Amino acid sequence: MRNRTTGVPVALLEVSGVAKTFGALRALDGVDLSVVSNSFHGLIGPNGSGKSTLLKAIAGDHFADNGRIRFDGRDITTMRPARRSRLGLSLKFQITAVLPELCVYDNVLLALQAHQSIWGLLRSNSRRALHGEISETLDRFQLLDRADDLAGELSHGQQQWLEIAMALTQRPKLLLLDEPTGGMSPEERRATGELLAPIRAHCAMVIVEHDLDFIKEICDRLTVMDNGRILDDGTVEEIERSAKVQEVYTTRV
Ligand SMILES: Nc1ncnc2c1ncn2[C@@H]1O[C@H](COP(=O)(O)OP(=O)(O)OP(=O)(O)O)[C@@H](O)[C@H]1O
Ligand SMILES: [Mg+2]
Repeated sequence: MRNRTTGVPVALLEVSGVAKTFGALRALDGVDLSVVSNSFHGLIGPNGSGKSTLLKAIAGDHFADNGRIRFDGRDITTMRPARRSRLGLSLKFQITAVLPELCVYDNVLLALQAHQSIWGLLRSNSRRALHGEISETLDRFQLLDRADDLAGELSHGQQQWLEIAMALTQRPKLLLLDEPTGGMSPEERRATGELLAPIRAHCAMVIVEHDLDFIKEICDRLTVMDNGRILDDGTVEEIERSAKVQEVYTTRV
């Protein structure tokens, strides 16, 4: 979406001056972040710098103590998480949340059904449509041949892909991913980059990662956090040249 007069892309997500404290700790201390539609935005920074807290504030898992968050033209600062999700915000946490005792197919089915009315579910043509959508989703994430296996039997990387696939069934406008490649093998990381790339056609992404090579490869812009503040923000090339960022990464990470 672009501003009609200036032609400048309008931000899909606009975080301004967001603060969050836990007791005496300032986990977020006046954070600004702007993400445009169909872009991949990386969030990096040392352990405890506030990355997960920021994603949770955007998704509504925590409420900001101060500041504003706008999403797709609306102020969502005090909106409940379920409403934010209905507007097109989807968060996948650091820890996998698939149901291990259910088969892979049924995990995706449950995620899809969460958005259907009971009457829609009872219609047989709707069930056929669901089957097509589940198969297509599993195929896209290289999981079709594992459809009947228990989700708990998948490798760690495949479980992460399943969870991303489940998040995408909600057709979000913005997907928030917290360390999706944590614990993955190098081969699974490479495959994750390839699986995420096509999402850009219909969805923007904010992704937290410690693997700098991975994040530089897939993101358009990077925001660097340190001690609950934004240390720097820019294109991948700008951040690579940033003296402030180099200082933090060479002395503390
Ligand atoms: N629910 C909570 N209660 C108290 N303190 C918290 C809570 N959540 C986070 N914190 C603290 O807030 C600070 C920021 O934590 P956060 O999890 O956002 O960091 P992070 O950048 O995601 O770190 P990591 O890279 O290790 O995942 C840390 O000092 C953390 O201990
Ligand atoms: Mg974290």
